[in-house]
Amino acid sequence: MRISVVGNGYIGLATAVGLAGKGYKVVCIDNNSAKVDLINKGKAPIFESGLDDLVSLCVCKQKNLRASEDYRDIADTDITFLCVGTYLSSGGGTDFTQIAQAAEDIGKALAKKNGYHVVAVKSTIAPGTTEQVVIPIIEKASGKKVGTDIGVAVNPEFLEEGKVVQCFLNPYRIIIGEYDKRSGDTVEILYRDFSVPIIRTSLTTAEMIKYASNAFLAVKISFINELGNICKKLGVDVYDVANAMGYDPRIGRKYLNAGVGFGGSCLPKDLEMLIDSAQKAGYEPRLLESVRDVNRDQPLSMVAIAEGIIGGLQGKTIAVLGLAFKPHTDDVRDAPSLRVIASLLEKGASVRAYDPMAMDNARLVLSQSIMYCDSASQAVGGSDCVLILTEWDEFKKESLYNGKVVIDGRRVLDPQRARQICDYHGICW
Ligand code: UDX
Repeated sequence: MRISVVGNGYIGLATAVGLAGKGYKVVCIDNNSAKVDLINKGKAPIFESGLDDLVSLCVCKQKNLRASEDYRDIADTDITFLCVGTYLSSGGGTDFTQIAQAAEDIGKALAKKNGYHVVAVKSTIAPGTTEQVVIPIIEKASGKKVGTDIGVAVNPEFLEEGKVVQCFLNPYRIIIGEYDKRSGDTVEILYRDFSVPIIRTSLTTAEMIKYASNAFLAVKISFINELGNICKKLGVDVYDVANAMGYDPRIGRKYLNAGVGFGGSCLPKDLEMLIDSAQKAGYEPRLLESVRDVNRDQPLSMVAIAEGIIGGLQGKTIAVLGLAFKPHTDDVRDAPSLRVIASLLEKGASVRAYDPMAMDNARLVLSQSIMYCDSASQAVGGSDCVLILTEWDEFKKESLYNGKVVIDGRRVLDPQRARQICDYHGICW
């Protein structure tokens, strides 16, 4: 089977490289010419561990991966993965612009194709979008009927940034939502040597499984953060609680690391979109709204703790260690650091920031009035208080914090040891 992948962000590239690595012939379609050029030179257009090597292997050595700006190339393939980004509209719902445009471009390309073709949606979209938006657009643009010449599937991805290729190749399960059996069978062939459960569902169920999975992770994080906020007041270490809870397989230990909250390109956005879907369906999702609200406030509690310890922040210098929403990525989208820094500046503090990888991306979205430092020790030096917001390994070095006021938002330091060298406080322990 020949494969085309439309949209080459994290999901698209992982899909393209993962399937090319398995020997399939893959073409990446993207209207960003810089991205296309990079891929054709054997370079990954985004930072992801292992991705550069795999792109280079598939493009330069195996020669079964290439990129193109020409949607007509889709007609030479058998299956198209739709992987364009999805965004929040100003009203909080899904902005369909990109997905609708991609569906139309795919439809136009399929108008000239002879033979059966499957479009598999990997973009995260609200339940019902494939049936109500994607299929009608493809049918109109192609002049063909889905179910006869064209098959449609929803095949969501559960990739964690920083290890997208590993996640693609080693999923916990594979979800295939299908328009009809033929569509699902065609997608399933690609995954025949993945030894994990393959779950076949309706299109809308598959869309909901993706939202539900991310929302559940968000629930766990906001739950443990709220519990942590309570524990701190009661003098209990929430990590002792989480560790003990985690032994119960019904609960599990994962995603119970209390801290400054979840960020990134998926969890916050997907939660927001699920809330919007529920409201549009006439249901007020109070639990999900609370999960969002707890997460929105959590970063600000670091600022409040700092104020409580060093007094008003006006004129104070605060070191912020960690700008990325999690380690091993340069991504700052919806990172807790953004809210923390905005609040610090609003309260009149000066900010000295450092992140081993995310400085360039941070500069694009953060105020120019903060100082960007070249190292953690430069940021910490001369500061009145240090806030740790991302659990990078280099922030574990205790000697960095000698004599400082430190507020740890990610349990980077061991509290007992840290208390011997600095004035250490956990965000919720
Ligand atoms: C997430 C999902 O894990 C993935 O399945 C989906 O496809 C995309 O969204 P990702 O955005 O890469 O992946 O981040 P993830 O590793 O899940 O972490 C999300 C955020 O939650 C980070 O800010 C992280 O620091 C935070 N987090 C995670 C916690 O605060 N506590 C935890 O216990 C776990």
